[in-house]
Amino acid sequence: MTLKSIGFFLFLLGCLRAAVMEEIYGMVGGDVDLSCISPGKKHFDLNKISVYWQTKNEPLKTINAYIPGDDTSQYIDSKYQNRTSLKLEKMERGDFSLHLSNITIKDELELECIVVNKSSTDPLFRSTVNLHVAANYSIPVVEAPKKTNDTEVTFTCTSHNGFPKPKIYWVNKTDNSLLNQSLQNDTFTINEKGLYSVSSVLKIAWTPNIRVECCIENVNLQQNLTVQSSFLLSPDGSTDHRIITTTPNQSIPSGKTSIITFFIIFGIVLVILLMAVISFRKLRKNKHHYGDYRGPQGNRQMAETTGKEKRN
Ligand SMILES: *[C@@H]1O[C@H](CO)[C@@H](O)[C@H](O)[C@H]1NC(C)=O
Ligand SMILES: *[C@@H]1O[C@H](CO)[C@@H](O)[C@H](O)[C@H]1NC(C)=O
Ligand SMILES: *[C@@H]1O[C@H](CO)[C@@H](O)[C@H](O)[C@H]1NC(C)=O
Ligand SMILES: *[C@@H]1O[C@H](CO)[C@@H](O)[C@H](O)[C@H]1NC(C)=O
Ligand SMILES: *[C@@H]1O[C@H](CO)[C@@H](O)[C@H](O)[C@H]1NC(C)=O
Ligand SMILES: *[C@@H]1O[C@H](CO)[C@@H](O)[C@H](O)[C@H]1NC(C)=O
Ligand SMILES: *[C@@H]1O[C@H](CO)[C@@H](O)[C@H](O)[C@H]1NC(C)=O
Ligand SMILES: *[C@@H]1O[C@H](CO)[C@@H](O)[C@H](O)[C@H]1NC(C)=O
Ligand SMILES: *[C@@H]1O[C@H](CO)[C@@H](O)[C@H](O)[C@H]1NC(C)=O
Ligand SMILES: *[C@@H]1O[C@H](CO)[C@@H](O)[C@H](O)[C@H]1NC(C)=O
Repeated sequence: MTLKSIGFFLFLLGCLRAAVMEEIYGMVGGDVDLSCISPGKKHFDLNKISVYWQTKNEPLKTINAYIPGDDTSQYIDSKYQNRTSLKLEKMERGDFSLHLSNITIKDELELECIVVNKSSTDPLFRSTVNLHVAANYSIPVVEAPKKTNDTEVTFTCTSHNGFPKPKIYWVNKTDNSLLNQSLQNDTFTINEKGLYSVSSVLKIAWTPNIRVECCIENVNLQQNLTVQSSFLLSPDGSTDHRIITTTPNQSIPSGKTSIITFFIIFGIVLVILLMAVISFRKLRKNKHHYGDYRGPQGNRQMAETTGKEKRN
């Protein structure tokens, strides 16, 4: 093995290590740190590197960038202006994490951090975060059941302003079984911020004692909000309605979980091909996006994207 091929092998290992996708959860209106930590080196000369935070998929948008001696704020997509920050003193220690504030549901994207050697434009490493956004549903409210006639009774459960779209379950509390979904009619509305509200109507056969629970599930928060409603026959023969709202069992996903996705063989072949192409290409100066190995075509396309954003 020649020295050169050893270096090449190490670079591939670097790629493998960089192919870590972090799942990060943020609350609408809140802040989040999108992590990007150098896997090896812990000291960086900030005059010799550039850092790009951008959307991973098309349309490519610059979320923030650091280029020595350049005011990068002009390249930042208007949706992210004034909402992100990089810390220079942390970057010197190999922590290129981005702080994002005032999260909206439009921030639910895969974002990529790329740290580049300025003098060779080689990526030193890159990492991806998958940002999931959530908003808390209000405690569900179940209206007093309506006994439409001697055979039927309906329950209505409502909850507001959550994200993502909820799942609604009705539970028969007599035996803790899930009621058939065909018995319920769910109506969703979306407000101007993209948050969901839901109203679920359950229609079941009337029996003297009915105890049901409405359960609103927020998948991103791994949270079930529940409220019980009972329709009981009192000893004096009249029916009595009772509602029990149980305190939600909060279990936010521990903030982040890492999923390590290794490049498949095909991916490695692709990287080798792309690297061969790049090694014959001259350095390009004053790039504002990191070109994602797509050559001049890719860079022109990104310049156009930036232009379009500015016109908006
Ligand atoms: C960002 O902040 C600057 C200065 O406070 C302001 O002039 C600019 O309009 C803001 N941009 C956005 C998109 O809010
Ligand atoms: C957060 O974003 C929303 C919607 O874009 C905006 O109305 C609100 O003023 C922002 N809040 C802060 C503190 O920037
Ligand atoms: C960047 O590339 C130059 C030239 O290839 C090299 O001398 C330098 O050590 C590299 N810097 C880093 C931080 O890898
Ligand atoms: C979500 O809402 C529930 C009920 O309103 C509350 O108990 C809980 O603390 C909230 N969680 C977050 C993360 O805001
Ligand atoms: C009770 O009302 C429902 C709809 O309101 C109807 O479909 C059903 O036939 C009624 N049953 C009787 C016995 O009237
Ligand atoms: C709830 O479960 C009990 C016990 O299994 C059953 O008798 C009753 O019919 C069920 N109610 C509904 C609405 O399915
Ligand atoms: C739910 O109800 C539908 C329609 O009444 C029926 O076809 C289906 O088998 C039921 N599912 C279960 C699990 O009972
Ligand atoms: C569900 O509710 C909506 C609005 O209340 C109504 O328009 C629709 O017909 C209902 N669907 C069924 C299957 O009952
Ligand atoms: C919420 O309730 C549903 C239905 O009972 C269940 O499938 C799900 O695992 C529950 N989720 C949590 C986080 O408890
Ligand atoms: C809340 O969640 C914890 C852990 O998932 C579980 O042990 C506990 O029984 C739950 N409490 C309720 C009231 O569901």
